[in-house]
Amino acid sequence: MQDQQAGIDWRDGDVPVSTRFDDPYFSLEDGLAETRHVFLAGNDLPARFRDGFHIAELGFGTGLNLLAALAAWRAAGLAGRLVYTSFEAFPMAPTDMRRAQSRFPALAALAAELAPHWTGRGQRITLPDLDFTLVAGDARETLEAWPHRADAWFLDGFSPAKNPEMWQPTLMAGVARHTAKGGTAATYTAAGFVRRGLEAAGFSVSRGPGYGRKRHMTRARLTGP
Ligand SMILES: C[S@@+](CC[C@H](N)C(=O)[O-])C[C@H]1O[C@@H](n2cnc3c(N)ncnc32)[C@H](O)[C@@H]1O
Repeated sequence: MQDQQAGIDWRDGDVPVSTRFDDPYFSLEDGLAETRHVFLAGNDLPARFRDGFHIAELGFGTGLNLLAALAAWRAAGLAGRLVYTSFEAFPMAPTDMRRAQSRFPALAALAAELAPHWTGRGQRITLPDLDFTLVAGDARETLEAWPHRADAWFLDGFSPAKNPEMWQPTLMAGVARHTAKGGTAATYTAAGFVRRGLEAAGFSVSRGPGYGRKRHMTRARLTGP
């Protein structure tokens, strides 16, 4: 049976690199700045936050995007809960998550608060302001059975060249079917086949400035039925 754990090499101290996909989990420049630019601003967050706002993510990895989103939610000072669901085929060991998260001092308090909850498996965490679910398994299978629609998607598989299964048109169609009316998606990649897959799924797609050395990123809004 294939090992379903994440295999990690470390680069520049605490940047995890997947041995399975030969790709870093987040930007070697500044992962937190990239998350804020691509996934938060790319989905018009925090401006759209409201009680029960639902973020869904393809590729949970280190939990950096969750921490950044929850930090933005708390900074926005809203009442109620952020709902966050992430799909992950190869969950990281909790010790590796902690090590990766240690790279971001601005998130240290949040990282420490969530640390006791991590299991390295599918799980749910309920806090007064967070309802988090990690759906373990291949997103190409688990998304179909998911009975919810997200307001904003963080499409964060490894690069399309190295992890094409996370970007295939049928999965983008699944993302569209699981997006609320007027909902959005954002990703760091501007690969043509990803943009075309999102368009074919019913999203209206635009290209924006990318983070760091990446020239472009992709933003999408569901305009179809
Ligand atoms: C770039 S990393 C995600 C980084 C993450 N969002 C973070 O905040 O650290 C991509 C993730 O996608 C996961 N992945 C790759 N193929 C997958 C698949 N078919 N289904 C679900 N997850 C997958 C990898 O295991 C990895 O954790």
